[in-house]
Amino acid sequence: METPKGKTPKMANWGMVELHRNSVNWAKVVEEIVRIEKRVFPKHESLAKSFEDEIKKKNTGLLCSQIGGEVAGYIMYSWPSSLYASITKLAVKENYRRQGQGEALLKAAIEKCKSRNIHRISLHVDPTRIAAMNLYKKLGFQVDTLVERYYSSDRNAYRMYLDFDTD
Ligand SMILES: CC(C)(COP(=O)(O)OP(=O)(O)OC[C@H]1O[C@@H](n2cnc3c(N)ncnc32)[C@H](O)[C@@H]1OP(=O)(O)O)[C@@H](O)C(=O)NCCC(=O)NCCS
Repeated sequence: METPKGKTPKMANWGMVELHRNSVNWAKVVEEIVRIEKRVFPKHESLAKSFEDEIKKKNTGLLCSQIGGEVAGYIMYSWPSSLYASITKLAVKENYRRQGQGEALLKAAIEKCKSRNIHRISLHVDPTRIAAMNLYKKLGFQVDTLVERYYSSDRNAYRMYLDFDTD
């Protein structure tokens, strides 16, 4: 289990793992994530059906926070080039929200990207997702542009980005 830098949730049995195909409990963790995915995201935004295929893709990372072995939240990211990465998924289970899980996951993904010498992380977020918008802004993401009909015919997205110098 890893402990990300900065604020971490103050609870017993909390930890974060990077999930790989050969991780212990892979099937159980994926099953839990898919269940959360179905509850949290509308169908057209959900990776529930394709989750396993997504994480098998090259250049894709998945971090998962757990409390007593139960999945509390997860973040997925990918790096299509050596300089650029995207956050493709972030969710925290409803009963574990507002306890620092989302922030810890996002910080950990940012650290992973930094360690790969990536210069920019971008993401898309529905502007009505206030909690997510606030979290991204808190960690320094800025709004780049509004992408109309990104999710569906009546749902737009902000594209946001975070740049950092790599030494
Ligand atoms: C967005 C989400 C991941 C945040 O997870 P979380 O564990 O509850 O967030 P944290 O407790 O780490 O909060 C970190 C920051 O996020 C913001 N935030 C979180 N929940 C918030 C809420 N309900 N209202 C306003 N701001 C909120 C705050 O800036 C907070 O910092 P603070 O505690 O100093 O105020 C969670 O709400 C979620 O899963 N939402 C549904 C899925 C989603 O929208 N995913 C993003 C898709 S792009």
